[in-house]
Amino acid sequence: MKQEEKKSSEEQSELTEVLTEESKLYQPSKEFVQKANIKSWEHELAKADKDYEGYWGEVAKELEWSKSWDTVHQEKKKNFHNWFVGSRCNIFVNALERHQKTEVKNKIAIIHEQEGGRKKQFTYGELYLEVNKLAGAFKKIGLKKGDRVAVYMPNIPETAMTMLACAKLGVLHSVVYAGYSYMALRDRINGAEAKLLITANGSLRRGKTVKLKETCDQAVAEDCPSIEKMVVVNNVDLDIEMKEGRDVWFEDIMKEETGEGVDTEIMDGNDPLFVLYTSGTTSKPKGVVHDHAGYMVGVYHTLKTVFDLKDDDVYWCTADPGWITGHSYIIYGPLMCGITTVMYEGVPDFPENDFIWDLIERYKVSVLYTAPTLVRLMMKYGDEPVKKHDLSALRILGSVGEPINPEAWRWYYEVVGGGRCPIMDTWWQTETGMFMLTPLPVTPLKAGSCTKPFPGIKASIVDKKGKRVPVGKGGFLVIENAWPAMLTTLWNNPKRYLETYWEKIPNVYTVGDMGYVDKDGYFWIQGRADDVMNIAGHRIGTAEVESALVSHEAVVEAGVIGKPHPIKGECAKAFVILKDGFEQSDELIDALKKQVRGSLGPIAGVDEIAFVKKLPKTRSGKIMRRILKAEELGKPVGDISTLED
Ligand code: WT7
Repeated sequence: MKQEEKKSSEEQSELTEVLTEESKLYQPSKEFVQKANIKSWEHELAKADKDYEGYWGEVAKELEWSKSWDTVHQEKKKNFHNWFVGSRCNIFVNALERHQKTEVKNKIAIIHEQEGGRKKQFTYGELYLEVNKLAGAFKKIGLKKGDRVAVYMPNIPETAMTMLACAKLGVLHSVVYAGYSYMALRDRINGAEAKLLITANGSLRRGKTVKLKETCDQAVAEDCPSIEKMVVVNNVDLDIEMKEGRDVWFEDIMKEETGEGVDTEIMDGNDPLFVLYTSGTTSKPKGVVHDHAGYMVGVYHTLKTVFDLKDDDVYWCTADPGWITGHSYIIYGPLMCGITTVMYEGVPDFPENDFIWDLIERYKVSVLYTAPTLVRLMMKYGDEPVKKHDLSALRILGSVGEPINPEAWRWYYEVVGGGRCPIMDTWWQTETGMFMLTPLPVTPLKAGSCTKPFPGIKASIVDKKGKRVPVGKGGFLVIENAWPAMLTTLWNNPKRYLETYWEKIPNVYTVGDMGYVDKDGYFWIQGRADDVMNIAGHRIGTAEVESALVSHEAVVEAGVIGKPHPIKGECAKAFVILKDGFEQSDELIDALKKQVRGSLGPIAGVDEIAFVKKLPKTRSGKIMRRILKAEELGKPVGDISTLED
């Protein structure tokens, strides 16, 4: 083989195979388009494409600034980007303060419900007062601009208040999902050197009381020298120990405050707003840093346009504030947009498996934003629990976290959305801060595709050298230009920031996912690059194989890994969860193998199938294939701090 040819075949060999094709387009109804804020997707894409910096600059004018920016976007040092350079602002002003001058003040900002039925609501006016009071209390505790606060809280309004009070004072919050172990909490507290830890005595989940304060005590007992104080919300009926001099009740410090005269710290737009450790399916968590200005603009505009927000929307994102989804799209985004956001503390299928639909009916939720893992769980219970409820208020549905397999997509669309609600499959990451690849509600949809990059975003599928791959091949998803809500660095680790995102493929932001673009320019995500299998020289993403399994009537969820094979190099092994009412059998194994071969062709055939009751998942619901693989091969499983069980 000539040198040239050899090189090109090596490059080709990193590419993934494209095994499936969904060509059916789901068009929005005429009525829907008429009412949509953005009526033409193509026009919006073209407008932003001409001058993406100008596009974001225009959007930014809809928000309030203490001082406008000198430059919309600047690459200050190679691969370190700043947006709205020279501006002065605070995201708190846009999330709460500015609404005090309009009728939004009297609107419900947060609807909260706790498992068991306890309810709380706050108008924008009430929430503003509470946040000011909390900021006053934080100041008395001694928090100053630049300090860090660790937050280990359930999905309750006090969590939103905490984040907003921190923002107001220029203090960084580092929210740690309140399901993580004390070790994970300890490491994150130490990573950010937090001065204060805020938690609740406990939280309710599936009929049990989760003892959050106890976990915090454990974390802090073991070498957390930076923690000076602990604030505890009295959230459930549970006695706890309070350490003299260190621990105070949230309710007590709030009683002392009037909320008057607490100044908002007017930040340099590029000052950090928060640190958030990524859930990490593959490696040690990274402390992702977001700033005020860019994050604020990116999150505000993407939420408003992708969910086509109207003044009277009741919006429910089922994520947790502990994830970026919660930061951007339960708290900051909805409040900046002035809509009503629902915070439910509990799980969606308890006490009854139709709880989620019951809540949607009761509050007339109009926008539902959830994850494929939850859609599949609900699908497992069948259509009946959904059909019992009046979901006619629903207008738009959303999905995030993993590729949504076409089978689950169609069920979500037909059964939940009654065939009238478009599904916004939003691809993004903790690092991107905001939606990156997503349809708008007027976009013709394909089941399982996140469609195209959001206006102003340039994404493509490339090989390791950064060369675009031809249609019909899969490769690495990369982002080719800067966007406002992009991470500014990794906390205390700019070197890892550069290595992880900017130095793998030249001149682009490397995402870590594989995917392909179809003939219509639609993007399909095939899964994490680390999970790709190499079967007889063909690189196969996990998503399509798992999706083929789930499209069998007996299967509700599947995790697929590659394991060594003497001839093929690797072969696929599938771990399969069956739907209620189906039994495992040799016939079923044969049927499933046939199903995969039938829909993906012979190279992607699954060699082994194991039936399992559960799959190892991150606490945000992503399958941890790395753990399945380590167990299968009898190798050490590595860092499992993010594992659910
Ligand atoms: C990774 C980011 C950002 C929201 C929550 C997760 C996967 C996310 C999709 C989607 C296919 C998706 C990717 C991405 N992912 N959304 N719509 N389709 N894959 O945040 O924990 O930072 O995870 O989640 O693999 O890289 P995260």
